[in-house]
Amino acid sequence: MPEKSTSSFAPLDSALKCGPIGVFDSGYGGLTILKDLQRRLPEFDYVFLGDNARAPYGNRSFDIVYRFTLEAVDRLMNVEGCPLVILACNTASAKALRTIQQNDLPTSVDPSRRVLGVIRPTVERLGALSESGHIGIFGTPGTIRSESYNMEIAKLFPRFKSTGRACPMWVPLVENGEADSPGADYFVKQEIERLLADDPDIDAIILGCTHYPHLLPKIKKYLPQGINLIAQGEIVADSLDDYLHRHPEMAERLTRGGSCRYLTTENPAKFSEMASKFIGTDIAATEIKL
Ligand code: DGL
Repeated sequence: MPEKSTSSFAPLDSALKCGPIGVFDSGYGGLTILKDLQRRLPEFDYVFLGDNARAPYGNRSFDIVYRFTLEAVDRLMNVEGCPLVILACNTASAKALRTIQQNDLPTSVDPSRRVLGVIRPTVERLGALSESGHIGIFGTPGTIRSESYNMEIAKLFPRFKSTGRACPMWVPLVENGEADSPGADYFVKQEIERLLADDPDIDAIILGCTHYPHLLPKIKKYLPQGINLIAQGEIVADSLDDYLHRHPEMAERLTRGGSCRYLTTENPAKFSEMASKFIGTDIAATEIKL
């Protein structure tokens, strides 16, 4: 039986003030971030939440992505006791992060808790990764339509030209365990060709969806040489490490047992199998309802 959910930002028990780092994604994509977080910051406890039952988020409206993300953050903070949640999802970072940071957290029972996203830390790295200043972004339709990457790039690197390409089939391929299938070749090759046709001078491409590293062997197969491929795992891990050094008051609230719990809104056996394969250890996921 799935566990029961609670209402949005329910009162927080003071005993829950210290806790694990929450890592959230619509599905299996966040595991590509979690793996690097655990490698870089192994001392902390983590709770991973994948909303697999409602993935993909990439085609959904702003309001729905915001509502689903808020429900996940609520679960991680108010039930799992996470003082800090990483949105390991570009779509949620693009469509929900700002509202949660500016409206929901400040009026919640403990406004000192934090939610961090993945877009800004990725863009901050671009200076060192592109010579031509022509940047490509692969993302979900929602992330690309939001223009979040283009706006961040324009702020930090006003001379850069950025070109986004939505890849609506890539997340379903991963969620359905088809990332290694011959069918994936068609969709990966097609989007790479379309992006480079839009701007042949691109020399750095952001994988702006945390699911996409699951397709890396296929992406590398069709990407011309000399183009930097920017995956987010290590970038987000570096950025969190840096954040915790700058915010010791948050680092002190994070429990240090080196554990990780896995929550999914869908079939826990399927999640456990997929996640065990990717993370490289045996994982037993728990089913929850949001
Ligand atoms: N992994 C997510 C992202 O980074 C979400 C993809 C989806 O659910 O469509 O955007």
